[in-house]
Formats: sequence, C-alpha cells, structure tokens
Amino acid sequence: MTVRHDIKDIGLAPQGKLRIEWAEQDMPVLRQIRARFEVEKPLQGVRIAACLHITTETANLGRTLQAGGADLVFCASNPLSTQDDVTASLVADYGIPTFAIKGEDTETYYAHIKAALDHNPQITMDDGADLVTALLKTRQDLIPGMYGSTEETTTGVIRLRAMAADGVIRFPVIAVNDAITKHFFDNRYGTGQSTIDGILRATNRLIAGKNFVVGGYGWCARGIAMRAQGMGASVIITEVNPFRALEAVMDGHRVMPMHQAAPIADYVITSTGNKHVIDRDDFEVMKDGCIIANSGHFNVEINIPALQEMAVSSREIRPYTQEYVLPDGRRVYLLGEGRLINLTAAEGHPSSVMDMSFANQALSAEYLVKHSKELDNQVYPVPENLDRLVALLKLEAMGVQMDQLTDEQQEYLTSWEAGT
Ligand code: ADE
Repeated sequence: MTVRHDIKDIGLAPQGKLRIEWAEQDMPVLRQIRARFEVEKPLQGVRIAACLHITTETANLGRTLQAGGADLVFCASNPLSTQDDVTASLVADYGIPTFAIKGEDTETYYAHIKAALDHNPQITMDDGADLVTALLKTRQDLIPGMYGSTEETTTGVIRLRAMAADGVIRFPVIAVNDAITKHFFDNRYGTGQSTIDGILRATNRLIAGKNFVVGGYGWCARGIAMRAQGMGASVIITEVNPFRALEAVMDGHRVMPMHQAAPIADYVITSTGNKHVIDRDDFEVMKDGCIIANSGHFNVEINIPALQEMAVSSREIRPYTQEYVLPDGRRVYLLGEGRLINLTAAEGHPSSVMDMSFANQALSAEYLVKHSKELDNQVYPVPENLDRLVALLKLEAMGVQMDQLTDEQQEYLTSWEAGT
C-alpha cells in the first residue's frame, strides 16, 4: 500500500531511522505506554491528525499512537522545524502518512494542513492550534465524528481558551501544555537547553561575560535565563507582569524595559508569546553586533518587517544567521528568520523532556476516546491522575525513590486539632 506523503527526500530514511531510535532510548515513559498500547489497542481504528514539529521525538509519539491502533497522519506545525530525515523514515519505515518539508512556504504549509484534514480525523493534535483552527474554519463536516483535540503549547492553549470563550470550539480540547509533567520540564529545561543549543549552533559565539536579554519570564523564558546565567552571562529580563518581574529580580537577574536593555545587549532572545517585543525603536538604539533570536511559538515577537525596512543591506553570513546593516553602519544579526531558534537551528528539546510531554499526549488521546461523551466543548486540563502517572513512571525510569508518608503523618495532615 502506498503511504500518502509530501516530504523532501525518501532517500534520507536510513539516517532518520537511526536518529528516531537514538531518541527512543531516552524516552522510557513513552516506551512503557507503547508496550501497553500494543496489547490493549485503546486507539484501534481511531483516525488521528497530528500537526506537530516533526522531530525524532514526535516520530516516537507516532509509533506509540500507531501501536495503540491509531490510523495516524502527520503534518508540520511550523515551516522551519521539520527534520527531513525523520519524515522520510516515518513514511518508509513506519508507514505513517506525513506532510512536512523543512523550509516550506506558507502556501505549502497550509496545503499540508489541508492534506492532514483530508484524513478525516476524529482526534487532532496541535502545537499552536493551526490544525484545529483550519478544521473549524473549513471542515465543519468533521465535527460530529470528533472525539476531541489536544494542544501541546502555551500559545495554542491561549488561542483555544479565546475560542472557547467565543463559543467557537465544538468538541472537548485537552491542554497538554498545562500538565505539570509538561510545562515544568519541557518549557523550562527543554526550552532552556535547546534555545542555547540553537544560538550556539547558529553563531558559535561565547555567552560568558555577555549581556543576555530575555524577553519575558514565563516557563520557557525562565529556562533560557537560567541556562544563560549558568554559562556566565549577565542576564537581563524584560517583563510586563509584576510577579514575574519580581521573581526575575530575586533569581538574580536585572529587570528593565526592552528599550533600556537594547543599547547594552549582546543577545536579545524573545519568549513571550506576544508580538513586536523587539520593535523599530529598539533597533534604533541597539549596539553594533547584537544577536537577536526568538524562542516563542510564532515569528511575530521580533518586528522583522521594520528591521528589513530600516536596513541598507542584508546577507546570510552563516546558516541561520542573517546580517542586517543599518544606515549608520551598525549590524544586527537575526537568527533563524525569527522562528523558534531551538527547532530551526538545533533539534528542539531533548528526548528526555519530550518523553513526558508526549506521554501526556498519548494518554490524553486514550482519555478522549474513553471519555469524550462525558465532556463539554471546553478546554480541559490533563486529568491529574494521568499527569501524576507520568511523573511516577519518569521517576521510576530514572531510578529515583521518593519517601512515603507514615500513617502518623497522614493522620497529622488530615486533622486540625493538633496546635501549639
Ligand atoms: N517542541 C520543542 N522541541 C520539540 C521536539 N524535540 N519535538 C517536538 N516538538 C518539540
């Protein structure tokens, strides 16, 4: 049987397969779920369309869903994050229809989403809510057959909550991002490490001793700041939320407005989920040689059109590093076209954290099949028992033992009479 696909080069499959196996070795929780799914087949015959970053880790999620009996199709959730050897292996070795090419233009990106919807999914998985948005706009005929949808990332959850408030959502959605075993680890340690990895692969520059500005102090930004600090940078945070700003100060960072940080910045990395965090007026005062990149979901955090308009010339000086020369001769270096730097110039989060994120995805898909009828057209958290299960399985796989409450301690916690 031919497997539907639109990918770069099927000949890359052998390399992709090796890399998928390498990732699998550091994904013990997903492996356990896959072993159970192979026996229980909780997703037997369920059509799933997953619009995710197509990486080695995502391939292992695909193998898990497939083991559960799902009839799966993949499409890219970002034009620049696809790993072309992985798409080749997904098609050639695992028989999973895949529509994703690294560097695809906007038209192809949406054609790939359409191809995924042509699979008539009963469950959609999103990283940024583009697939579910396209479904609700163009394929309302699919709604009656839907078990529901899952969402991987903060930006997508924000979009979906806005849709739920407007009554646009027509089936239950599970906010995988909000599971503790997702955002505490993937967003913080995953983004922290992979963002630095992307910056280093693109620039090969030193971080120690530099002024490293991070836009935002949410989970992802905290991780980036923590790792930059660990490498010897002097970290500056820009924030609009007073609690987060305070936390950043007490974590040892300076906090100031972006316009004040721009003239002293050696690096500026955005991770806010909002637009034009670095704007025209910031480019006007940036020092010569400043390196800028984005680690938020969409490529709107840096006002790239303004930079392009202001520049007198531009060239790609290294892969993923675009030099813009301003009228007074100052140079600004934009990494990865302002798209998620960890997935454009590096390989995304390491497998060990994606293990927990994608365990939540697999368990949420199973949950939707079992419980969809009891749910409303709302955004739901991952059920706490599943989140907890992921944590327990991860600890077990890491060989870490916790303490247990004694009966006396248990009783103490549930009584109110003991006092001074
Ligand atoms: N998002 C961030 N890193 C990722 C990875 N390695 N795979 C899939 N999605 C990701």
